[in-house]
Amino acid sequence: MKIIFYEQHADASLWLRDLALALPGADIREWQPGDTAPADYAVVWRPPPEMLACRPDLKAVFNLGAGVDAIVELERTHPGTLPPNALLVRLEDTGMSVQMVEYATHAVLRYMRRFDEYDALQRAHKWEKLVPHSRDEFTVGVLGLGVLGTKVVERLTTLSIPVRGFSRTKKDIDGVRTFAGPEQFDAFLDGAKMLINLLPHTPDTEGILSRRAFERLAPGAYLVNLARGAHLVDEDLLHAMKSGQIAAATLDVFHTEPLPEDHPFWRTPRITLTPHISAMTLREESVAQVAEKIAAHARGEPISGIVDVKLGY
Ligand code: NAP
Ligand code: GLV
Repeated sequence: MKIIFYEQHADASLWLRDLALALPGADIREWQPGDTAPADYAVVWRPPPEMLACRPDLKAVFNLGAGVDAIVELERTHPGTLPPNALLVRLEDTGMSVQMVEYATHAVLRYMRRFDEYDALQRAHKWEKLVPHSRDEFTVGVLGLGVLGTKVVERLTTLSIPVRGFSRTKKDIDGVRTFAGPEQFDAFLDGAKMLINLLPHTPDTEGILSRRAFERLAPGAYLVNLARGAHLVDEDLLHAMKSGQIAAATLDVFHTEPLPEDHPFWRTPRITLTPHISAMTLREESVAQVAEKIAAHARGEPISGIVDVKLGY
């Protein structure tokens, strides 16, 4: 079995070593420009189109992340990038949900208990007690109830705050008010005090964090974007923060990464930025899952995590 690997920002030697240990007998190589030799499987993150195109024998492409938007976009801009019979398979959790739960819970507690404002008061040497947010009115809405969003809502329910969830198809999760589809989007948003985004980036979800959505939230709401920069209309957030409709935002993902030096988000008080770290790809867990799936597929067994390229996730 021949496997090609590409991850521009990783130490490929470590991935090749671990994949070889997990798949004894496999012939695994780092893909280099110009390499058109046959391959059965590709393990990739943000590959160039020429790596995958023209490989009719490729059986599956394993994406080293949960979000497949970059590859799906490649297929849109360079039709034929994905060989017609190759499956596209995403990572399923591989240690990401625990990271997302930590990040999201931290943001909820930080805003609910107003710790961000106490930080500012301390910097100004001010001893001032703020009126606490009412727990009952601190409704948190989570966009996306997949592998990651489900773990996040389950944990948030343990904080005894009202939790809502939004997905494409209806879900039933203990303690969570669930909404599905565009016709229930407004009801999901209405009066929520905080919005946490864990949707995939698809044509249907692009720009979903917009002025129209912000206006339906409770005044002085909070936004946490953990999915993709393309979900957010940046100018609408800046406008909503100016008016006070959005009080504060925590952003882990951006239209352009790294966030350009001159982007106003760097200078907006009460925007907290992190460099796309809310849930990182962990090598050990990812190699174990990918190797297990490659072995299962090679034996002719079904595997999970197959992307519906038409839906985009
Ligand atoms: P997932 O398991 O595929 O879940 C996606 C969820 O979004 C599902 O509940 C799906 O609904 C819902 N959804 C999709 N399209 C929708 C639409 N048009 N309207 C409403 N709901 C829609 O994905 P995941 O593993 O949880 O990951 C989610 C995203 O997080 C990834 O795509 C990636 O962009 C992002 N991510 C970011 C980081 C980071 O470090 N910042 C790390 C990992 C992942 P159904 O359940 O009905 O299908
Ligand atoms: C990271 O952003 C991922 O999609 O896994």
